[in-house]
Amino acid sequence: MSEISHRIVADLLYARTGQQLTANRRWRIDTALAGLFRERGITNLDQLVCMLADAREEKLTLEVVEALLNNETYFFRDRLMFDLLATEVLPDLAAKRADTRRLSIWSAGCSTGQEALSLAMLFADQPQRWQGWRIDILGTDISGRAIEAARGGVYTQFEIQRGLGVTQMLRWFTETADGWRPRPELRRPIRFERRNVLDVPPDPGRFDLVLCRNVLLYFAPANRNKAFARLAEATAADGWLMIGAGETVAGHSESFAPACNTSGLYRREAPTLHRPAAKVGGR
Ligand SMILES: C[S@@+](CC[C@H](N)C(=O)[O-])C[C@H]1O[C@@H](n2cnc3c(N)ncnc32)[C@H](O)[C@@H]1O
Repeated sequence: MSEISHRIVADLLYARTGQQLTANRRWRIDTALAGLFRERGITNLDQLVCMLADAREEKLTLEVVEALLNNETYFFRDRLMFDLLATEVLPDLAAKRADTRRLSIWSAGCSTGQEALSLAMLFADQPQRWQGWRIDILGTDISGRAIEAARGGVYTQFEIQRGLGVTQMLRWFTETADGWRPRPELRRPIRFERRNVLDVPPDPGRFDLVLCRNVLLYFAPANRNKAFARLAEATAADGWLMIGAGETVAGHSESFAPACNTSGLYRREAPTLHRPAAKVGGR
């Protein structure tokens, strides 16, 4: 029964998020659900699956999916990628959008908000450069719990120190009784929404820069293709895409071309017109 129960839980995660828990990663289920079992007094996976079969247990279903999501994140994760944003991507966009002075950025799979706040710091650190610009940063995630935490914007001492130097931490965050909170001017350009990256994107074609880092790693191939199609729909025709350094678009989408000789950074590419190949020896 337990193997079937593992498969049922893996299927649930797949149906709700597009993520695949292949047989060799199913061990994660027991570890990830241990806390939920304790909270709910559930003794084993088979019991959980029986409870999930009860249609009234939608809340439990959501809790199971939440527990299986990996929300690992920290400020300026893969700092070299943020350096590239500062030195290559933002100057390119600043030149292209000099007439409108507007930039829209989407952090898809933003977890608890550190990625969106790191982006906001890139702008806040150069106030003169971006004076008079309207910068909008949208952070989305399928995890309601992560989005709630991102909106709450309170970080523990451990979280605040992951990726931030002391100067940046003191400059952009204030210590409160609950933890560290971003200063209002840092938080202002950011909006957080719960959203599945497989759904029709917000504001198609409007985003100058889309980040979807460390999100699609465990997606089933068909869903990864679909997610890249959604990201392409969202990105402006001359916009940029950044994914995780260990991830690739190759084999999943023809809508992006590698940029700056760096794995993980792409420019949106106009779709190529597929002309029928000339027949060899034909008329
Ligand atoms: C490992 S975190 C990465 C966070 C951040 N992008 C970073 O690189 O630090 C992956 C995030 O993707 C989210 N995620 C997983 N499947 C998703 C989906 N179908 N739609 C939107 N977000 C999803 C998870 O909830 C999680 O918060």
